[in-house]
Amino acid sequence: MSAENVLTVRGLTKHYLGGSRLRGTQHVVRAVDGVDLRIAAGEILGLVGESGSGKSTVGRCVTRLTTPTSGTIELLGKDISRRSQRQLRPLRREVHIVFQDPYSSLNPRMTIGEIIAEPLRQQGIRSRRERDLGVAEMLERTGLRQEMRTRYPHELSGGQRQRVALARALIRRPRLVVADEPVSALDVSVQASILNLLLELQRDLGFSCLFISHDLSVVEFISDRIAVMYLGRIVETTSRERLFREPQHPYTQALLSAAPVPDPALARGRERVILRGDLPSAAAMPAGCRFHTRCPVAVDRCRTDDPALVGVTAPDHLVACHLVEPGRGAPDITAVRRADADHST
Ligand SMILES: Nc1ncnc2c1ncn2[C@@H]1O[C@H](COP(=O)(O)OP(=O)(O)O)[C@@H](O)[C@H]1O
Ligand SMILES: [Mg+2]
Repeated sequence: MSAENVLTVRGLTKHYLGGSRLRGTQHVVRAVDGVDLRIAAGEILGLVGESGSGKSTVGRCVTRLTTPTSGTIELLGKDISRRSQRQLRPLRREVHIVFQDPYSSLNPRMTIGEIIAEPLRQQGIRSRRERDLGVAEMLERTGLRQEMRTRYPHELSGGQRQRVALARALIRRPRLVVADEPVSALDVSVQASILNLLLELQRDLGFSCLFISHDLSVVEFISDRIAVMYLGRIVETTSRERLFREPQHPYTQALLSAAPVPDPALARGRERVILRGDLPSAAAMPAGCRFHTRCPVAVDRCRTDDPALVGVTAPDHLVACHLVEPGRGAPDITAVRRADADHST
């Protein structure tokens, strides 16, 4: 039921006009092309896919930094997909976005204290004391020393800046946080501390989160549920456990096989599948299943029929693939590769 969800997205599309009208090269870029999502209260949904698959565009639509071409976005039961900026104001405090690069998203001329307090100021909280108390609490919650308040962003490390971005995002207690590649610009050693902080804040404050990343291991660490995106569509979505235990879509299987595995014994057992070719352009979408040009197991039907995202193996496990059928198990893309190798020897 959508009433229980903090966010419900149906049929979301965002098309851009690319190229040049003058040169006659104008074309439609289908960045997001029919996406359904839901996020329950207190849930972290990981949105994962290669660069260019449309993840950031989903994040920008959901936070209404941009207006979708079509579809509905329900935040706390209210459709915000077509609201004007003025009409959005009452709901602005309920959703906050955190970006990849905390340096470019933090105003370099403001102190850390001013940056964290800014959402309170925008909300019209004029009492200096009230704002100071809010900032002190958020510095504490994000593991920053109180004296950071008078510093400027350039004096902080990348990890500290992302802590500031989280403090600022959460000071108004939004119901939904959209985090777009929030650790991708950080050293691997710092990533874990920021992910752990986000989990801790989520447990303490209870917000929902749309966590966007191209990195499957990051998404595996943080998410309750995962949606795999390919060329503007969700191709598979289910709980984290199920996705890693029983990946169905050939694209998900390929992503998983390429992800680093901490356990060497597991890594040996998992055959690496390298996807052929690059991600096709969102301006020249393949017909049929949009993954068929890179799919190791595609059949004729995949080149003509666009598969719907449906529950095949379980109601909470949706897959968009013609080859996934009840009782048959997922298509084994590594078996196909082994057969290929046998033929060539
Ligand atoms: N403002 C824009 N104008 C034209 N094309 C865009 C714009 N923003 C994104 N795109 C295109 O939309 C597709 C999806 O981009 P994006 O949402 O940034 O993907 P991701 O975050 O998964 O890397 C890409 O092909 C990108 O070039
Ligand atoms: Mg992006």
